[in-house]
Amino acid sequence: MRKEVVLITGANGEIGHGLCTHLGIREDVLILALDIEELDEELIPYCHRFVQGDILDKMLLGRLVAEFEIRTIYHLASILSTRAEYNPEAAHRVNVEGTLNLLRLAIEQAEWQGRPVKFIYPSSIAAYGLPDLETKNRAGKVKEHEWLTPKTMYGCNKLYCEHLGRYYARHYRQLGAEGAAIKIDFRGLRFPGLISAFTTPAGGTSDYGPEMLHHAAQNIPYACFVRPDSILPFMVMPDTIKALVDLWAAPQENLDNLVYNVTSFSITAQQIAQMVKEAFPEAEISFEPDMRRQKIVDSWPGDLNDDAAKEDWDWSPDYDAMRAFEAYLVPNISERYQK
Ligand code: SER
Repeated sequence: MRKEVVLITGANGEIGHGLCTHLGIREDVLILALDIEELDEELIPYCHRFVQGDILDKMLLGRLVAEFEIRTIYHLASILSTRAEYNPEAAHRVNVEGTLNLLRLAIEQAEWQGRPVKFIYPSSIAAYGLPDLETKNRAGKVKEHEWLTPKTMYGCNKLYCEHLGRYYARHYRQLGAEGAAIKIDFRGLRFPGLISAFTTPAGGTSDYGPEMLHHAAQNIPYACFVRPDSILPFMVMPDTIKALVDLWAAPQENLDNLVYNVTSFSITAQQIAQMVKEAFPEAEISFEPDMRRQKIVDSWPGDLNDDAAKEDWDWSPDYDAMRAFEAYLVPNISERYQK
C-alpha cells in the first residue's frame, strides 16, 4: 500500500519551515518533504520522509510517484526575485521547468488515483509590474487582473506558472484521444513580502523588511537597500500559513479564481525601521538605496486588493502591523537570538 502524503517542495525555505511545523503536528497529515539541501534538523520530527533532490530531476520525481500516494502538493521551491536576476535562465529552469515537472507529477497521481490532486502554488506581488513610481502611488489596491507586466524574471516565471496551473486544471490535453478526464485542482496565492520570526529569506527583493528586524535583534548594523518611503504590502508567517491552509480547505465550488491576492498590511521601509527601533532601541539602521533593486520595489504594488479571497474563502489575516510586531515578531525573534 502506498502511503498517503502531502508533498512539500522547498521544505527548507522560509514558507517551508512554517508549513512543515504547522502541518507536521497534525495527526492526519504525513509530510513528504523535498529540498535540494539537507533538511534542517529542527524540521526532521515534523516530516514523515525527507528526500534530498532537485525538482528538475524527473527520475527522482518518478520514484516519488511510484512510492507514494500524493494527495496534495505545496510547491514552494523557487529562486526569488533578486537572485533570479543574476542568472535568469537558471531561475527560469527552476521556477518554470521545475513547476512543470510538479504539475506533470500531479496529473500522473490524479490519473492513477482517479481523483484530482490539490496543487497549492505560492505566486507573488512580483507578478505585477507598474511602469513607474507615480503610477504605483496612484494605483492603490491592485486587483488580480491589473498591471500584469512583470519586470523581473521571477515575476515572469510566477505569472506564467499561474497560467500553466490554469491549463493543467482546465484544459490539459484537450485534443488528446481520451482527453484528460481527471485534471488537477490548482489553487494559487499572490503573496506580499513575507516576514518570519524564525527564518530569513534568501535572494528576495522584499528582504529588507525581515533583514532590518533580524539584524537589529542580533545587534548588527543594517543598511537598508531601498529608500525610506518605499512601500510594499507585507504579511507575517502565521498569516502566510493560514492563507495556504485555508485556501487548501475551501470547497472548490466556492472558488471563482484560480489565483488570489492576499495581504495583511502595507508599510514603508521607514515605518518598519521605526517599529524595529521601538523594539530594539540600540538598532543601527541606515538607508543606502541600491537604485536597481529600488526599481524592482517601485514596480510592485504598494497594496493589494484581496476582496476576492475574502468573499470566496473568508480570508482574513490575524495580524496587522502592530500586532505582527508586538505579538509575533518581537517576542519570538528576541527569544531566538537570546538562546
Ligand atoms: N518576496 C519575494 C521576493 O522578494 C517576492 O515574492 O522575491
